[in-house]
Amino acid sequence: MSSPYPANRDTGPFHTELCRMASIRHPIIQGALGGVGSPALVAAVSNSGGLGVLPTWGVPLEQLRINIRRTRELTPRPFGINITPIGPSFARTRADVIVEEGVGVVTTGRADPRQPIVSFLKQHGVRVIAVVPTVRHARRMETEGVDVVVASGSEAGGHVGRVATLPLVPQVVDVVKIPVVAAGGIADGRGLVAVLFLGACGIRWAPASWLRWSVIPHRR
Ligand SMILES: Cc1cc2nc3c(=O)[nH]c(=O)nc-3n(C[C@H](O)[C@H](O)[C@H](O)COP(=O)(O)O)c2cc1C
Repeated sequence: MSSPYPANRDTGPFHTELCRMASIRHPIIQGALGGVGSPALVAAVSNSGGLGVLPTWGVPLEQLRINIRRTRELTPRPFGINITPIGPSFARTRADVIVEEGVGVVTTGRADPRQPIVSFLKQHGVRVIAVVPTVRHARRMETEGVDVVVASGSEAGGHVGRVATLPLVPQVVDVVKIPVVAAGGIADGRGLVAVLFLGACGIRWAPASWLRWSVIPHRR
């Protein structure tokens, strides 16, 4: 029996709001991997149709600029930068480089980057995707003007949330009007389908295989 869905994946059921917003083919954001996420990994994810994301955690400012330019050499596709807001000056200096280098998407992790940073990025046309561990944080980030929230469950590697992904995602979907992405413990395509059913428009994903893949070229 033929598929009920159009053959063109750019209009099919997996071409979600996240795909349209980030100009990607598959609704998958690569989880930033502070300390190990290399331009090679980020470009590989973007070249495969997802959104590769460079980390800033543990990356000196000038190295960040080098990593952005290196990633551009490796992929013509969109990619993002993750800001881990460990202080106002850390977030602001990274935001400056992101705007100067013309990167179109920022994900945030660990904490609220604060409204002035969100506004600054938005004024320069950067889409902001905020990782949140609770409904309360999701509401706050929506008020600050982010474009998307990532409901990140306690299963997520390196994350501090205490609510598991399965209950967190529908709770967040119910309270915010902006698109919601799911993260935490998603193992394969069945996990993607499951969270789409819960109302998410994609996943933020950092499987162990990417971690291993990333470390190797990073050391070359
Ligand atoms: C080694 C490692 C480093 C990470 N570094 C970051 C980071 O710098 N910024 C961030 O927002 N999330 C970071 N994360 C979280 C991942 O990006 C991702 O959101 C999370 O792992 C998704 O859940 P999953 O691991 O269950 O797929 C890290 C995770 C790991 C395992």
